[in-house]
Amino acid sequence: TVYPDEFEAADKVAKYVADIIRKKQSLGKPAVLGLATGATPVDVYARLVKMHREEGLSFKNVVTFNLDEYYPMQPDSKQSYVAFMDENLFNHIDIDRKNIHIPDGTLAPEDIAPYCLAYEQKIEEMGGLDLQILGIGRTGHIGFNEPGSAPNSGTRLVTLDDLTRRDASRDFGGKENVPTKAITMGIGTIFKAREIILMAWSRKKASIIKKAVEGEISGSVPATYLQLSENVKFVLDEDAASEL
Ligand code: GLP
Repeated sequence: TVYPDEFEAADKVAKYVADIIRKKQSLGKPAVLGLATGATPVDVYARLVKMHREEGLSFKNVVTFNLDEYYPMQPDSKQSYVAFMDENLFNHIDIDRKNIHIPDGTLAPEDIAPYCLAYEQKIEEMGGLDLQILGIGRTGHIGFNEPGSAPNSGTRLVTLDDLTRRDASRDFGGKENVPTKAITMGIGTIFKAREIILMAWSRKKASIIKKAVEGEISGSVPATYLQLSENVKFVLDEDAASEL
């Protein structure tokens, strides 16, 4: 779906998320949401906060799993995805802290593999993701699944692409300060979500959106794997859709 601008698009996505939360509430069940970071979902989160404040939308039944976190990363560092999520969403809503899951950037190397397995299991135990929200990196990554990621990959430690580190350099005051690794849900993990919404705004994303939507399905652009799923929606503004 293409909207004239990102604000209208974000508004529609936020309403869609709120509908899932309310529907699950009426069934007395948790709404299990897969969340993303980056500039793209910021407006969606802002609108959800507004709905909480103005319409009484409650997040008491919401369980969240974030896609990824840099490694190593301290949660109280201002570049952490923990800080990002607190600032943009969690500090402003009534979610129960124990229902928030974000990959742990402080693990000892030998603890990462069992932790990743447990992350997957926790998602399963909650009944699986009702909705996974995605942005897209300029390498075609979703989460931090960089080129070369397998379509059935699970949550794991990955090495970040040079372009991804360059794109993150502003947040870190230079590329040399950007971690070289991250823990990310896999493509296979993302695929298990009952619904997936990938959002992209601005002309900066137009060429990677063209590749993701119309390009040959290939590990060199991991987002092309989304073409294989029936449950994926791309929500774009006109600029991001301009090369389609
Ligand atoms: C990071 C995140 C991705 C996100 C991407 C795009 O790499 N790990 O989940 O989609 O950035 O970021 P932005 O939305 O700022 O363009």
